[in-house]
Amino acid sequence: MNILVTGSNGQLGNEMRVLSKKHPKHHYFFTDVVEADDTHILNITDKKAVSAFVAEHEIDLIVNCAAYTNVDKAEEDEATAIKINAEALSVLGSQGVKVIHVSTDYVFSGDEHVPCRETDPVAPRTVYGVTKLRGEKLLVAECPEAVIIRTAWLYSSFGNNFVKTMIRLGKEKEQLGVVFDQIGTPTYAADLAEAIFTVIEASVWHPGIYHFTNEGVCSWYDFTLAIHELAGITKCQVRPILSEEYQYSTPRPHYSVLDKSKFKKTFGVTIPHWMDGLRRCVKLLNC
Ligand SMILES: NC(=O)c1ccc[n+]([C@@H]2O[C@H](COP(=O)([O-])OP(=O)(O)OC[C@H]3O[C@@H](n4cnc5c(N)ncnc54)[C@H](OP(=O)(O)O)[C@@H]3O)[C@@H](O)[C@H]2O)c1
Repeated sequence: MNILVTGSNGQLGNEMRVLSKKHPKHHYFFTDVVEADDTHILNITDKKAVSAFVAEHEIDLIVNCAAYTNVDKAEEDEATAIKINAEALSVLGSQGVKVIHVSTDYVFSGDEHVPCRETDPVAPRTVYGVTKLRGEKLLVAECPEAVIIRTAWLYSSFGNNFVKTMIRLGKEKEQLGVVFDQIGTPTYAADLAEAIFTVIEASVWHPGIYHFTNEGVCSWYDFTLAIHELAGITKCQVRPILSEEYQYSTPRPHYSVLDKSKFKKTFGVTIPHWMDGLRRCVKLLNC
């Protein structure tokens, strides 16, 4: 198959690029809005450009790693978030090829106390969540064969993310307050990329919505302690704080654990614990 990967300069897109070398069965085209090594320019909101790319390279499958991911900025720049997270999914879904799309735990309210299943009611609380949910719906309307994978708390050795920020702050500061009343599962983007290759290479195509994160749960506070321990940071005292002390400009889900049973059962895989993913990522960051 010829496979188009969008947003490949981002965390997940870069991990797809790295792992594609271990998965030579198919041919991959890596694209993003900004040019980089081995990256073609492709804006997913540009229908003409997407159709031309799909036709020219005889694409059989699109893996959409592109998104507007800045949750706070999306509140002020709703129009752009709608274009990239929602309307572009109509563009990708209408190409007459299969699509694997990545969505988010932010489609849920985060008020529950048990892991969310794919069939649970959605109730996004942010512009980001609303636009991502609209994207899911627009995609399925155009391409009922699509696979949608919702994930959460993504980090990688590529790009900017919580892990890198906590390592930097841990080296700069003697004290750090981190929220302990938001619970979720950190997800190493390399493990999510591996899950996407599992979907691509499965002998049977299983359309639908799936949840995928690493295993286990923690708070951002626990996550920070683990990051510092693995990065050998000993001089920064990490203090648990409440979300209200941090004063987020955009609401954050208090409990956003995803139930991954459907993915594990359908694709017959086991998923690494978040500590395992974090250990591999911090090792790569070489701190
Ligand atoms: N990060 C998280 O914690 C998290 C949590 C849950 C779900 N997700 C979902 O997981 C997926 C991957 O996230 P990520 O963290 O890898 O995102 P990311 O690092 O922000 O990467 C997204 C990439 O898409 C590019 N892009 C933006 N607009 C585009 C357009 N119109 N056409 C083509 N490319 C465009 C971005 O370029 P610029 O940087 O130049 O804009 C960036 O390179 C997304 O669907 C996201 O919603 C992420």
